[in-house]
Amino acid sequence: MKPAQGKLGVMCVGLGAVTTTFMTGVLMARKGLAKPVGSMTQYDKIRVGRGKDKKYLHYGDIISLANLNDIVFGAWDVYPANAYESAMYAEVLKEKDINPVADELKAIVPMKAAFDKNYAARLDGDNVKDCKTRWDMVEALREDIRRFKADNNCDRIVVIWAASTEIYVPVDEKVHGTLAALEEAMKADDREHVAPSMCYAYAALKEGAPFIMGAPNTTVDIPAMWQLAEETKMPIAGKDFKTGQTLVKSGFAPIIGTRCLGLSGWFSTNILGNRDGLVLDEPANFHTKEVSKLSTLESILVPEEQPDLYTDYYHKVRINYYPPRNDNKEGWDNIDIFGWMGYPMQIKINFLCRDSILAAPLLLDLVLLSDAAARDGRYGTQRFLSFFLKSPMHDYTQNEVPVNHLFQQYVMLKNAIREMGGYEADEEID
Ligand SMILES: NC(=O)c1ccc[n+]([C@@H]2O[C@H](COP(=O)([O-])OP(=O)(O)OC[C@H]3O[C@@H](n4cnc5c(N)ncnc54)[C@H](O)[C@@H]3O)[C@@H](O)[C@H]2O)c1
Repeated sequence: MKPAQGKLGVMCVGLGAVTTTFMTGVLMARKGLAKPVGSMTQYDKIRVGRGKDKKYLHYGDIISLANLNDIVFGAWDVYPANAYESAMYAEVLKEKDINPVADELKAIVPMKAAFDKNYAARLDGDNVKDCKTRWDMVEALREDIRRFKADNNCDRIVVIWAASTEIYVPVDEKVHGTLAALEEAMKADDREHVAPSMCYAYAALKEGAPFIMGAPNTTVDIPAMWQLAEETKMPIAGKDFKTGQTLVKSGFAPIIGTRCLGLSGWFSTNILGNRDGLVLDEPANFHTKEVSKLSTLESILVPEEQPDLYTDYYHKVRINYYPPRNDNKEGWDNIDIFGWMGYPMQIKINFLCRDSILAAPLLLDLVLLSDAAARDGRYGTQRFLSFFLKSPMHDYTQNEVPVNHLFQQYVMLKNAIREMGGYEADEEID
């Protein structure tokens, strides 16, 4: 693996609650004023070696990871507010946790967004690029990336989408099936099939930057993007940060599955009142999230494998916009299970979480590990990053099944890090 030398430019699409919480935390951590709690790259240890040679090392002692001091932040947003104003608006963090890095945050001014209101009707900011076609959007974004890299003297760039969820774009083989078809559609300004997020992904990969999709958008979940990632030898990862309810689901469902208990229904609902909640209040945007959230259970509790236990369970996911709670989401899960001789039981989980507080460390880990993967020469879909994502990318054209089981995902993550560090991958439990 090439060592992490020089500056790493982290270019965030969207400068909202999640992004500003992430940036503020990193800036505070590098001043020694806050701890990056929840970040695996900063805290977790992995066993390498076996028997008397075994030792437990931090990720950064196994592979070369970018240092927090070497990160330079950039962003695009539909609204012109700088990162300080946006963090204050989001009200996730207290002023006392923002003010020590106020100057650095104020210097992060969003570039004009590649935006189309048809993809997020509830947003009406005017910090938007004036592009005639989708191809123009790509060209403008590529120029932004090149300029940012040069101006900040960056050695490498990672682009991460933490912008609003776009409306659902179903995969259309004719447009998304090959890179040539996608490029043609961009040039023909096919706005129905080419989401703005696809322009960001295309621009990033073409500029030699890994691209991470943190929303449930199908942006890089299409063969055309896999082809581009392969051609440019760049990693891609997605989709949808696995933060609250789905984290619980992917950790809890294995308990039911491992004990061979039955499931008759799982109802998940939550209330949240931030701008993300506002966008998701729009049915077309919610549908994108719903598809992503629903996929988690199906590959953990599989009806075909255990017809007595998992046939026809009812799985419902709801999100309700409720402004008084802002970013402090409250989630309820009601799980109807059955046991010996079919006797029913219930489990209730009430998670009072903070959305952006859970998401911020995921951004850090995804960025650092994607950068490491690129330096290691890994490209295409990074399945080892599934651990951090609600709806992991997989090659559905080859009937590949995504891994949603949290502990299997953890094994994949650890093994990839062992391999990148020159150690043997293994399945030993610890
Ligand atoms: N916080 C979580 O727990 C969590 C978990 C999974 C996924 N997500 C996803 O992360 C994303 C960000 O969440 P948030 O709470 O920060 O939302 P937010 O609304 O606070 O911020 C999103 C920002 O993206 C901007 N934006 C929208 N379209 C854009 C475009 N085309 N280009 C540039 N900027 C654009 C908006 O103006 C807004 O400022 C959402 O899609 C959300 O679904 C969040």
